Amino acid sequence: MPLDTPNKSSDKFQHLASLRMAAEELGGEARVAAQHKRGKLTARERLNLLLDDGSFQEIGMFVQHQSVNFGLAEQKFLSDGVVTGFGTISGRTVYVFSQDFTVFGGSLSGANAEKICKVIDLAMKNGCPVIGLNDSGGARIQEGVVSLGGYADIFLRNTLASGVVPQLSLILGPCAGGAVYSPAITDFIFMTKGTSYMFVTGPNVVKTVTHEEVSQEELGGAETHASKSGVAHFACESELDAIEHLKKLFAYIPQNCEDKPFDISEVASLSNAAAALDAIIPASPNKPYSMKDVIYNLVDGGEFLEVHAEFAGNIVVGFARLGGQSIGVVANEPAVLAGVLNITASRKAARFVRFCDCFNIPLLVLEDVPGFLPGTDQEWNGIIIHGAKLLYAFAEATVPKITVITRKAYGGAYDVMNSKHIRGDFNFAWPTAEIAVMGSKGAAEVIFKKEIDAAKNPDEALAQKTAEFEAMFANPYLAAERGYIDEVIFPRETRERLIRAFRTLKHKVDTNPRKKHGNIPL
Ligand code: HXC
Repeated sequence: MPLDTPNKSSDKFQHLASLRMAAEELGGEARVAAQHKRGKLTARERLNLLLDDGSFQEIGMFVQHQSVNFGLAEQKFLSDGVVTGFGTISGRTVYVFSQDFTVFGGSLSGANAEKICKVIDLAMKNGCPVIGLNDSGGARIQEGVVSLGGYADIFLRNTLASGVVPQLSLILGPCAGGAVYSPAITDFIFMTKGTSYMFVTGPNVVKTVTHEEVSQEELGGAETHASKSGVAHFACESELDAIEHLKKLFAYIPQNCEDKPFDISEVASLSNAAAALDAIIPASPNKPYSMKDVIYNLVDGGEFLEVHAEFAGNIVVGFARLGGQSIGVVANEPAVLAGVLNITASRKAARFVRFCDCFNIPLLVLEDVPGFLPGTDQEWNGIIIHGAKLLYAFAEATVPKITVITRKAYGGAYDVMNSKHIRGDFNFAWPTAEIAVMGSKGAAEVIFKKEIDAAKNPDEALAQKTAEFEAMFANPYLAAERGYIDEVIFPRETRERLIRAFRTLKHKVDTNPRKKHGNIPL
């Protein structure tokens, strides 16, 4: 699209208007129709849904690629396949880039990469979140290494921006090859079911190399990444649904690492929440219950935005509010694998804890954990390293951190789940808490082995010793005696205690030793 200006000054305004109109048309009517036929919106339609009405201010509308090879000199489109700029969501400024599949399949040219880098740079300077709407065929093949260099320029910026401003990625179409690494570095990934996919190599390469036959959807669709790999945090039903999820999450997070999340006026608890909390823990310690019921009955209005809902269900993470204050919740889930800590759960929770710590979001830990999952699969795949990630994440976090032990807090998992020893600010326990090195039966088997083996009826002896151990250790009072638990509280009191505790921690200051950066066990 030539940008030459007309000679007559009266035509110049008309010229600008016509250029803008041409840019609005993206890759042309036919390609826009094809985009809609694929069940996808255009880059501009998406921005209209994401941003407050009329708030979008475009940057770089007239940027075009400078390539001449493969007939590209004759194929120029205003904006060159990515719409960039800034706007607001609920009045808060965000910087955005929206890849335009109707222009060279949204592929990344040098010019296109420069536009993306420009908005990330602006977001960093102005302390605002970056939202990337991804829909791209990857590197602009005709541009070769220029395109690869452009990706690396973006990866560098994603990395430098990490922990400075929140970065959110919507995946709304293809995202393949090395291109996946930009969203992977960002904080949260939202994918759409059926229309988006992410993979390092597509089904054809997979077939050639490993002889596996797999569809695009199976290999790297939203459900695969939300449930199997954990790459995606949300698998959404549609583009609108993905944008709505992103906006919900956005409400809980601040603008940057110097900022705090916004408080809203307090929303009351559910009407019979206190009584419901008293009734949640089953009489038998081996009977499951869902920690989500605890969460719903604790937080403002019972509203909880679960992150990674389909991945590693034995730990639950997400955002909520307590007394109007935004908090991150990390909760063992006794209803799934008894709430055990395994590799996936440790990875999932560690990353969430680190996000909250980067952005000053206080952490609430709800604990009912029988320990780490035993077995060769876990050991050989590195549960030691992965479990250490969660330990490290909690230990280094300096945001307000509160733990409530509802039932089991066994073994190393007791230490890991934000214990007092790793700087938990307030650690509460319900009277149903059992804080010990291991479960009573296992403990009795080890320490009374000789007596049990020598007994006339070993089963009876084991049951008796188990009961003795249980009476002595399966409670919160030994820990409370040492000050490892600040207070044993009734479940029904928990919400009020937490609101008060988080309020007193509102201006908490804690630091870590000066260093270049830590070396988290990756
Ligand atoms: C230039 C591209 C392109 C690309 C698509 N197009 N991908 N142009 N570079 N990478 C163009 C097509 O020529 C077409 O142009 C338009 O975009 C739409 O593409 P279609 O193929 O018609 O669409 P569809 O059938 O929906 O298929 C989409 C697709 C396919 C699956 C993405 O286009 C595809 O496989 N593209 C190549 C993907 C790829 O190999 N990319 C490089 C990956 S390696 P017209 O003019 O007809 O509209 C990589 C390395 C990054 O990205 C490394 C970073 C470190």
